[in-house]
Amino acid sequence: MKDVRYHISEKHGEKHGRAGGAPKKSDELQRFGVSMEGYLLERFDRVIEQKGYTNRSEAIRDLIRDSLVEQEWDENREIVGTVTIVYDHEVRELSDTLTDLQHQFQKLFRSTLHIHLDEHHCLEVLVVQGKGSEVKKIADRLIGTKGVKHGKFTMTTTGKDL
Ligand code: NI
Repeated sequence: MKDVRYHISEKHGEKHGRAGGAPKKSDELQRFGVSMEGYLLERFDRVIEQKGYTNRSEAIRDLIRDSLVEQEWDENREIVGTVTIVYDHEVRELSDTLTDLQHQFQKLFRSTLHIHLDEHHCLEVLVVQGKGSEVKKIADRLIGTKGVKHGKFTMTTTGKDL
């Protein structure tokens, strides 16, 4: 009887997940064992110590969260990110192009930080939020604009499903 009930609830969970909404969150802590080569674990311990983690569990939780954030992008759900660009504002039409893009897709832009680095260079950090595919596309266009010397898109999450 127990087996049957488990089977049913598992199937229900799967169906729920695929319907688009996030699967129900369980805050209950679960333990699981991990096997790996000793040298890997030693290197991992060194790295997490440098990063200031006090235990492996928290470091592994962060790694898992990070890979789930990547997955959100794959699933094309709502994401949040930042686009950082450095450009020479004297390059012809560059500032206009960047501003035009932001007006054209204004729903995706939540906030912008602009710093005049020197007489020529500007640094801009744009906070973007929206459907993964749209956000990625606009980030690529900003970074790929002629005259942008360096650009970086960093994706994070709305935090709802973590
Ligand atoms: Ni500037």
